[in-house]
Amino acid sequence: MPLYHKQGKIPQKRHTIFKKPDGTLHYEQLFGTIGFDGMSSLMYHLHRPTQIKEVGASIDISPKAAVEHNIKSRLLKGFQVQPVDDYLESRVTVLFNNDVHVGLAAPKKSMTTYFYKNTDADELLFIHKGTGTLKTMLGEIPFDYGDYLVIPRGMIYQIHFDTEENRLLVTESYHPIYTPKRYRNYFGQHLEHSPFCERDFKLPENLQSYDEKGEFLMKVKKQGQLHHLTYATHPFDVVGWDGYNFPYGFSIHNFEPITGRVHQPPPVHQTFETSAFVVCSFVPRMYDYHPQSIPAPYNHSNIDSDEVLYYVDGDFMSRKSIDQGYISLHPAGIPHGPHPGTYEASIGKTKTEELAVMIDTFKPLKLTQAALDIDDGKYYKSWME
Ligand SMILES: [Fe+2]
Repeated sequence: MPLYHKQGKIPQKRHTIFKKPDGTLHYEQLFGTIGFDGMSSLMYHLHRPTQIKEVGASIDISPKAAVEHNIKSRLLKGFQVQPVDDYLESRVTVLFNNDVHVGLAAPKKSMTTYFYKNTDADELLFIHKGTGTLKTMLGEIPFDYGDYLVIPRGMIYQIHFDTEENRLLVTESYHPIYTPKRYRNYFGQHLEHSPFCERDFKLPENLQSYDEKGEFLMKVKKQGQLHHLTYATHPFDVVGWDGYNFPYGFSIHNFEPITGRVHQPPPVHQTFETSAFVVCSFVPRMYDYHPQSIPAPYNHSNIDSDEVLYYVDGDFMSRKSIDQGYISLHPAGIPHGPHPGTYEASIGKTKTEELAVMIDTFKPLKLTQAALDIDDGKYYKSWME
């Protein structure tokens, strides 16, 4: 996150004596990415953050390819993924490559008996249904329908839901997730032509620090394994921190669409970037206002990227038979475009209510068996007249 934030109590100067009321020292930890070159935060713990009491079982949760080389356009019915009590067990990877894993989740219960961190990947959670609070070692972020939650790798968190009705799109990125560079100035500030700015971000707040010793289960995702560790102190024992590396939220409803007289290309919808894929937000907006404009997109060949569209709400102008929670996959190598009739039908329309998240990956995606289980199987023929 290219802005400075702090919570709690910190010493005036870094790497100096910072005592607790009883005269003993706090324990400083640098939490950074890209070696010592990326964004980092400095946090102050009540206890040494290095106290691992025991290392238990490791479970292989790496996705397995059911389709290694996909050339078919696909339509996955995302809401057919069944609700599961546990948050981690509810996460079902459907599409993946070495850069990114895309999954669906319908967790019913909050995480209360363990803590979790993904040490390989930044996580981008999109909240399609449900409300709650993301609790992290750096503070809390309340979330709501339409929120993206960006959780940097290594961030210890729990997710608490208000009800059992939750639907999430889960993206794990093996490259850091940033806002688009072209929208930021040399100092990282979002520029005037950016479709969102710093005011739109939900930053960690309400830092809670727990001074507890005991046994705390920490599930660590690393190299496709879910390792079970026992920490000797409460993982949320930070009394203060400052810096640039922290989780944050951003509501898709705060994305201000960029429109034009004629059809604007997908990059105007871009919300996040990585070195291996981009994330775009398609939001309700006015259609193109040239008198001869065709609002529906032209056919296009995404030669360099697989295109994943997750449908959230509203009518999707260029698609037929699309419902909430569906995922379309348009693989690189073959053109795609509006369905028959939708191109013509879009002429004269003045606005759209569509809401969708797009993930364009620069390398082809593989499909898991879980994806095939919810694949409609005939979507690739749906452009036939
Ligand atoms: Fe497309």
